[in-house]
Amino acid sequence: MLDLGDLEHNGVVIIDNISSRAELKRLAKSIGEIRPHPNGENIATLKSSDGRSSLPGTLSNIYGLSAFPFHTDTAFWGIPARYVVMGMFSKSQCTTNYISLSDITRVVSNDFRAKAEKSIYLVETFEGCKYTSPIFCQNGVSGIRFDPNIMKPANVHAERFHSELLEALRSIEPRKIHWDGNKAVVFDNWKNLHGRSAVNNERREIFRIYLES
Ligand SMILES: [Fe+2]
Repeated sequence: MLDLGDLEHNGVVIIDNISSRAELKRLAKSIGEIRPHPNGENIATLKSSDGRSSLPGTLSNIYGLSAFPFHTDTAFWGIPARYVVMGMFSKSQCTTNYISLSDITRVVSNDFRAKAEKSIYLVETFEGCKYTSPIFCQNGVSGIRFDPNIMKPANVHAERFHSELLEALRSIEPRKIHWDGNKAVVFDNWKNLHGRSAVNNERREIFRIYLES
């Protein structure tokens, strides 16, 4: 169903002909172990909305139907989800956009990683707050953690890292996933930041599964 080497190499893989939640789940299980969201769901159904009834602090609550800024999913976990599987069975004009860590590395200064290593961020969600680093390494694989929505720089190095990263994200043309029906996408959440374009006059419904590292 999916070439794992392809995913490892490219960081993002698109799979066609996925037309149900059961197929999406099967795809996810062929890659890794599903980790439920803190709300207990294996598959989250994300519906576009103006955000007024969304949980406080979530992207939907803050941005509603506008574009979502680039971020890591589950940045508030000790180690963020390694892979994110997303599926949409209907068509949508609204694209999922992403920028890879290697694209970022190409445009930032040589000491960007050193800045990251010295950075401390405060992560705040409705569940609580803690300090964290924007980079991490597990089993020899390093990753980036960035969600400007819930992460605030807490030292001068993080302030410098933050503004350099935001400037890099503004300067890079993102890659786009066009949802044209019965499609799934698996992306490496440690090696890509992703966002969403604005939603116009449609009821967008996307399904999402998190996979353990
Ligand atoms: Fe996301």
